Amino acid sequence: MTPPRLGTPLSDSAVRVMLLGAGELGKEVAIELQRLGAEVIAVDRYPNAPAMQVAHRSHVIPMTDPQVLNGVILAEAPHLIVPEIEAIATEVLAEIEAADLATVIPTARAVQLTMNREGIRRLAAEDLGLPTSPFAFAGSEQELAEGAAAVGYPCFVKPVMSSSGKGQSFVESADQIARAWAYAQSGGRVETAHVIVEGRIDFDYEITLLTVRSMRDGRIVTDFCDPIGHRQDKGDYVESWQPQPMAAAALKASQDIAAKVTEALGGLGVFGVELFVKGNQVWFSEVSPRPHDTGLVTLATQVQSEFALHARAILGLPVDVSRRAVGASAVIYGGVEAQGVAYEGVAEALSVPTADLRLFGKPEAFERRRMGVATALGADTDEARERAREAAGRIRVVVP
Ligand SMILES: Nc1ncnc2c1ncn2[C@@H]1O[C@H](COP(=O)(O)OP(=O)(O)O)[C@@H](O)[C@H]1O
Ligand SMILES: [Mg+2]
Repeated sequence: MTPPRLGTPLSDSAVRVMLLGAGELGKEVAIELQRLGAEVIAVDRYPNAPAMQVAHRSHVIPMTDPQVLNGVILAEAPHLIVPEIEAIATEVLAEIEAADLATVIPTARAVQLTMNREGIRRLAAEDLGLPTSPFAFAGSEQELAEGAAAVGYPCFVKPVMSSSGKGQSFVESADQIARAWAYAQSGGRVETAHVIVEGRIDFDYEITLLTVRSMRDGRIVTDFCDPIGHRQDKGDYVESWQPQPMAAAALKASQDIAAKVTEALGGLGVFGVELFVKGNQVWFSEVSPRPHDTGLVTLATQVQSEFALHARAILGLPVDVSRRAVGASAVIYGGVEAQGVAYEGVAEALSVPTADLRLFGKPEAFERRRMGVATALGADTDEARERAREAAGRIRVVVP
């Protein structure tokens, strides 16, 4: 790889970056790319998505439609394509990459493997031999019942094509299987949802280990951010903090797993490796080949946030993963179903010591839609978490 050259946006020398998915994570990546003078094109399926508001141009298209997606990519001729979500016609990305028309971040294969829980789970457990929860796949209620009996109760049932807890159930006994199957059918991205059933890991805590592959002195190197602890509610993150205190052996085991799985996926950029930890034992759960929602905390805690790290890494630039503070993030939910909502209590929220705020600017609020996040620092993660929760709690989403 030749050393990267940056250019002038909207000119012949521009480095054009297309974001597929323009949510809050993409918005922060777009801002970091803008700072380095990249030309940013944001794509999503609805207008005025967060990253569109800070991009040079945007397109509203059904990203699962291969022809439409291909058309937009050919018309814009980006140098880099950065998928932010999983609901994308990934076969188009594979063709674009094979024809050497653009670089897919991190690689088209990584995007394809991680969009389906079966692809990444088989890679991790079977090809790489990493420790995971016991699992089985099912394409019918009958197969699900057999799979659950094999992995044992309690277990989790998840559509293989889904994210953010959608269609996901915690199942304690056989009589709950029918309901879990029906719920998975409603929450997946495709009509007949195949599901994975996973035995429950009785972990002490779970982490996201942000792992960055970047260029240094002409070689790809792997760096780890300090572990991020988080709390999930119904499969969706509600608060996160950094660093999560860990025994040295557990941290080492976590980094070994993260190094193996990111090496197998390849390419450049940030990966969010999700791990379960009990004592010194570590299980691989899943991985995002991009910045992770729980990593929003790094906006406050790191010299380079996960978004700055991603922007630099994908442009072929060196990164610095050092942490400068102890901090936490707390999610602000819509709480209402309405368009063009307003936020009250902002001054009160920002009066919490060290508190900061990101309001994503989503055009429409839903009850459980993430509309913003509060961050705060502290002497320890308990203090930081309390402050972040306090700040988030002071925000009131109102219908104007
Ligand atoms: N096998 C499991 N054992 C224990 N907890 C689990 C298991 N699978 C999922 N969970 C819990 O549910 C959360 C969401 O599951 P995950 O597989 O990460 O789905 P998503 O892709 O929607 O984030 C996890 O962060 C964890 O808290
Ligand atoms: Mg997850």
